[in-house]
Amino acid sequence: MNNDDKIIKLKTGVKGLDYMLYGGIPLKNQVIVGGGPGAGKTLLSLEIAYNMAKLGVPSSFISFEEEPESIIANAKEVFTKFKDIDKLLEEKKLLIEGKGISIKIIEKSDSPSYSFSTIISDIDDIVAMNGSKFVVIDSISLLRLLIPDPVNYRIALLSLTSKLKSMGVTSILTAELPTSERKDVTFDPEFFTFDGIILLYEEGEADKRNLTLEIVKMRGSNHSWFLAPYEITSEGFSILTPTSTNETMLDSNDDDL
Ligand SMILES: Nc1ncnc2c1ncn2[C@@H]1O[C@H](COP(=O)(O)OP(=O)(O)OP(=O)(O)O)[C@@H](O)[C@H]1O
Ligand SMILES: [Mg+2]
Repeated sequence: MNNDDKIIKLKTGVKGLDYMLYGGIPLKNQVIVGGGPGAGKTLLSLEIAYNMAKLGVPSSFISFEEEPESIIANAKEVFTKFKDIDKLLEEKKLLIEGKGISIKIIEKSDSPSYSFSTIISDIDDIVAMNGSKFVVIDSISLLRLLIPDPVNYRIALLSLTSKLKSMGVTSILTAELPTSERKDVTFDPEFFTFDGIILLYEEGEADKRNLTLEIVKMRGSNHSWFLAPYEITSEGFSILTPTSTNETMLDSNDDDL
């Protein structure tokens, strides 16, 4: 029996990604989605939250940086497949939140510890609103601006991840990398505390962008090791793998919870 058979995984519903993840994200894993500016971190994690909600997993997308209204408007513009996003939001199967958090971050920027404890309790409140089992935090890079001292930043990140762990949720935290190129990527020590790392690279000239995705690690599961080209299409992300054309999203995540 393959060891992977015993692990419960949540399907992301993203074309090609579940193939690379050998089924999906292992339940309760905390996964970093990293990449340079504009690589697609927000859109990919939002698409996963949307798909999870559709597949029966109550989800929340918590933005530290953008207002929910603009995230929703942008997602609808990019992804025509988000047809029932309003219904999912109305039924609270999907929550897109964060305006309050970013305002507090700005207002309390002179009092980092206060802001951070508020952020943690705000996340708690959001997750409690719909009993989220899948949570996206977009992005942890803002915390670094909020808490410039490297030791305090690491402590804050550890409190955030241990909070998510104690909630028992599966999570994606996005992180801005200082480079878009694979050869220049280095990992901050805090990255090693996460269960999974998925990186988006962008190489080449602006008019000939070469976008690729790599699963660097995923605790508790085997996964593909190849660099997969990806496109952002109106149907969502399309990660090109040997089977991506055969994948379907018809399976539900319901049975996994
Ligand atoms: N209508 C569209 N169709 C296809 N691709 C689009 C469309 N609109 C935006 N994009 C792509 O999505 C990218 C932005 O995605 P996203 O906002 O998720 O990136 P990000 O990594 O979160 O960026 P940031 O570092 O600024 O937070 C753009 O760089 C562009 O390539
Ligand atoms: Mg973003």
